[in-house]
Amino acid sequence: MHFKKNILCIGAGYVGGPTMAMIAFKCPQYRVTVVDINPERISQWNSDRLPIFEPGLDEVVQACRGRNLFFDTDVEKGIREADIIFVSVNTPTKTFGAGSGMAADLQYWEKTARQIRNCAESPKIVVEKSTLPVKTSLAMERILTSDGDQIYFDVLSNPEFLAEGTAIHDLEEPDRVLIGSHKTERALEAREALVEIYANWVPRERIITTNLWSSELSKLVANAFLAQRISSINAISALCEKTEADVSEVARAIGMDSRVGDKFLRASVGFGGSCFKKDILNLVYLCRFYGLIEVADYWEGVVRINDYQKDRFVLNMLNAMFNTLAGKKICLFGFAFKANTGDTRESPGIFIARELAEERAELAITDPKALDNARIDLADLGEQIAYVEDPYDAAEGSHAVAILTEWDLYRDLDYERIHGSMEKPAFLFDGRNVVDHRRLFEMGFNVFPIGKAPLTHF
Ligand code: NAD
Ligand code: UGA
Repeated sequence: MHFKKNILCIGAGYVGGPTMAMIAFKCPQYRVTVVDINPERISQWNSDRLPIFEPGLDEVVQACRGRNLFFDTDVEKGIREADIIFVSVNTPTKTFGAGSGMAADLQYWEKTARQIRNCAESPKIVVEKSTLPVKTSLAMERILTSDGDQIYFDVLSNPEFLAEGTAIHDLEEPDRVLIGSHKTERALEAREALVEIYANWVPRERIITTNLWSSELSKLVANAFLAQRISSINAISALCEKTEADVSEVARAIGMDSRVGDKFLRASVGFGGSCFKKDILNLVYLCRFYGLIEVADYWEGVVRINDYQKDRFVLNMLNAMFNTLAGKKICLFGFAFKANTGDTRESPGIFIARELAEERAELAITDPKALDNARIDLADLGEQIAYVEDPYDAAEGSHAVAILTEWDLYRDLDYERIHGSMEKPAFLFDGRNVVDHRRLFEMGFNVFPIGKAPLTHF
C-alpha cells in the first residue's frame, strides 16, 4: 500500500501512544510509526497487554496496528523515513541544578531535537506535542538549523489536551486542536499539512491556529486554570468543614452560573497526575524568570493549597482516630490519581500512604488497575503495606477505610459487609465524596467526607 505521508512520533507514553493510535485509526492514508528508547514499552505496545490502561484504547490499537500503525525501537530509521515528526517525550520537573524542583527538565526533548538533526536526510515538519515552556520552539529551531541549514525543518507547536481515563473520547471529540506556527509562507504550508491530518475527523472550526508562543503558553495556562478551580473548591471545602456549609451544595450553586460552569468543581483529597503540578511550577518559574514575582506567587498558591489539602486529610484522620494511628490497620480504597487509569504519578495516594506509614499505621491498599504502580511507588516501605486485589479482603480487620480514588466500584460495594468485618469504632474517610454518607453513618460508620460536617456516633 502506498501511503500519503509517513508520520513518526518519538515517545510512546500516555500521550504518544493514544494520540498516534487515533491518528492512524482516523487516517488510513497515513503510515504512523511510534518509537521509543524503552524497548520494553515498545514490546508491550506490540502485545495484547498495552503498557497503559485507557478505556477504548485496545480497540483502536487493534483496528490499525500492523495496518498503518507501527511501534518500533529504531528511532533513527523512523526519523529518516518520516515527513512529519511528533515529539512526545517526557518533560518532567528538573531535579538538579538551576530551577531544581520548578523548571522543566528539557534533556529528553533536546536529545530528540539533536537526533532529528543528525539523522534527517530530507526536510521535516517537527511538531512539539510535549508540554514545554514558552519559547522552547525557538531553541528547537536553533538546534535543528545549527548544521548549516542544509535541510529545512518547520517547527510547529501542537500541545495535547487529553485527560487520562477519557483519552480516547478526548481525542475523538476534542474541544479544540491547537496549532501554533510562524506566519511565513513556508510555515503556513507546514501548518496546513498538520491541519489536514486533524481535519479527517475534527470539524475545521475546532482546529485553531495561533503564533508559536501563544500555543506553547496556552497549554501551561490551560492546566493552571483547571488546577486552580480544584484548589479553589478545595480551599472552600476547609471553610465548609468549619461552618456546616456543604461543599457539594456550594459547588452546585456556583457552577450553575454559566460564567463559572459546573466542571472541575469536585472537592477532593487533592489533585494528582503527572502534569498539573509540574506545569504550574513551570509557569511559576517562567514568571519569576521574567521578574513577575506577584504573578508567580499567585499561581504557586494553587500548588500550596493542593499540598495543604492532602496534609489536612491525613491530619483529620489522625484527629478523628483519637490522635494515634500506631499499629492500626488502615485500608486505602484507590491509589490511581483519578478513576479509569492505572497511572499513579503524583497521586495523592502516595503522599497519604507515606504519612500514614510515618504514623506507624499498617496499610492495605486496593485498586482495580494501579496496584502494580503502587508497589513500585511504595517499594521502600516493604512489609508495612499489603497490596490486595479484593476490596472486601483489603478492608477486613481495619480500623478505617479511606477512599482516595473515585472508581465507580467503590460507590456500589456492600458496606454492611465491610462494616461487619472491621474493628470498631469503624471510620470511613471519603476523600472523593462518592458514597452515601448518611446511609453509611446509619450502618454504624463514623463518616468524614470532604467539605461537609462529619457524621459520628460519639
Ligand atoms: P511518558 O513518560 O508516559 O512518555 C514519554 C516517553 O518518551 C517514554 O516512554 C520515554 O521512554 C520516551 N522517551 C524519552 N526520551 C526519548 C528519546 N530521546 N527518544 C525516544 N523516546 C524517548 O510521558 P507522557 O505522559 O506521555 O507525557 C509526554 C508529554 O506530554 C509531556 O510533556 C507531558 O507534559 C505532556 N502531556 C501529558 C498528558 C498526560 O495525560 N499524560 C496530557 C497532555 C500532555
Ligand atoms: C489534565 C487535564 O485535564 C488535561 O486537559 C491535560 O491534557 C492533562 O492534565 C495533561 O496535560 O497532562 P489529567 O491530569 O489526565 O488531565 O486528569 P484530570 O481529569 O485533569 O484530573 C487531574 C486531577 O484532578 C485528578 O487527580 C483528579 O481526580 C483531580 N480532580 C479533577 C479533582 O480533584 N476535582 C475535579 O473536579 C476534577
